[in-house]
Amino acid sequence: MIEETLERWQSRRAFILAVTGAAVGLGNIWRFPYMTGENGGSVFLLLYIVFVLLLGLPMMMAEILIGRAGRRSPMQALAYLAEEAGRSPHWRWLGLFGAVTVFFILSFYSVVSGWSIEYLVDSINGGFVARSPQEIGASFETFLADPLRMTFNHTLFMLITMSVVAGGIANGIEKLNNIMMPLLYVILIVLGGYATTTSGFGEAMAWLFTPDLSAISWQVVLNAMGHAFFTLAVGACALMAYGAYMPEEQSLLRAVFSVALLDIGVALLSGIAIFSVVFSHGLDPGEGPGLMFVTLPIAFSELPGGQIWLGAFFLLLLVATWTSSINLAEPMVAMLVGAGWRRGRASLLIGALVWGVGLLSVLSFSTLAEVHWIGEMNFFTLVTTVPTDLFLPIGGLLIAIFAAWRMSPEAASAALGASGRGFGLWRALVRYVSIPLTLIVLLSGLL
Ligand code: PHE
Ligand code: NA
Repeated sequence: MIEETLERWQSRRAFILAVTGAAVGLGNIWRFPYMTGENGGSVFLLLYIVFVLLLGLPMMMAEILIGRAGRRSPMQALAYLAEEAGRSPHWRWLGLFGAVTVFFILSFYSVVSGWSIEYLVDSINGGFVARSPQEIGASFETFLADPLRMTFNHTLFMLITMSVVAGGIANGIEKLNNIMMPLLYVILIVLGGYATTTSGFGEAMAWLFTPDLSAISWQVVLNAMGHAFFTLAVGACALMAYGAYMPEEQSLLRAVFSVALLDIGVALLSGIAIFSVVFSHGLDPGEGPGLMFVTLPIAFSELPGGQIWLGAFFLLLLVATWTSSINLAEPMVAMLVGAGWRRGRASLLIGALVWGVGLLSVLSFSTLAEVHWIGEMNFFTLVTTVPTDLFLPIGGLLIAIFAAWRMSPEAASAALGASGRGFGLWRALVRYVSIPLTLIVLLSGLL
């Protein structure tokens, strides 16, 4: 068995920032609005919040505590804890499953983050000034149809991601995070404030917050569950990798709560801002993955100094996606490092492989648009749905089973930082609510 890692986050704050950085990203600002638009609005929002509280939170604790108790990369932590508790050594394959999941997620995450790079440059150059909503929509289409521009941005994003991962994560990115994330919240709040002045605000609020149960289906429930996992970064053993570096004395419970609340808050603000614009301009809420890239330039082009705001927004979004993509890459790199690789080489190899598969997503908007992999899904649709809505809940389920039923209760409660009643409560919630609920939704959604 390999030795445990001695690396630690430098402070409590650092750990919370790292987990917040992993959680807040495209999931909140890009994916949440378009998924809500495609899945019936208020029902999706309601289910997402319920799943975050009942599944996301307890499972996030389960995942981080495994990493913290194991003090190794996910695969090795699972192997170690299974052995310690006299369980099957096969639990370690869960770590590999997580690595496969983050591999595919990162491959599209980088492509979409590349869109933000393009839009950052465009807005600085004044590309959206005095443009009509139609023109803004059309320019997004033109961009998507240009694989070279997209590949360029995707390459750039993979480079900045892997160079941070290669350097070890404890330093630079923490500080960047520290300064940039609060700025992102400020811009979102300004945008939310602006939304209240638009003609579509009332309609957006009604559409988001008046529960309309007619839109519900097992597919919608499954999608909402998948999104809850995705947005919290739970189920892929990625937070498990971060948990290994958690300082000894720190409350896991408190850290996790603040992250979840922030994550919901950012999603709500983005949703309100984006749907106000949608309804003000008679756009289609079910527009799909392009939603944010069309609505926000429209909104900002109407604000005084819009160009500057828009540029700042994309810059901060880029920072948010950067800190998430680092977390996505970490478990894969940690796995190779645990097997004796040097960090730099491991990062290079993983980065190159993810980059290559990402090209399939790039081409899904042009050459490969009509190539269907499963059913009607082209590659981009496939990787933005199956790994998130299926793999993450399956991974989360197994993680929860391991933490609440298989590993030694002493190790689990020590790593949770809660003994007695607190631990019992958490374990009962995971055993009798989170696990059965995930199973029911998964099975019903699939059948
Ligand atoms: N939570 C991130 C987001 O909302 C995505 C992510 C998923 C990050 C899984 C790490 C692991 O954008
Ligand atoms: Na998120």
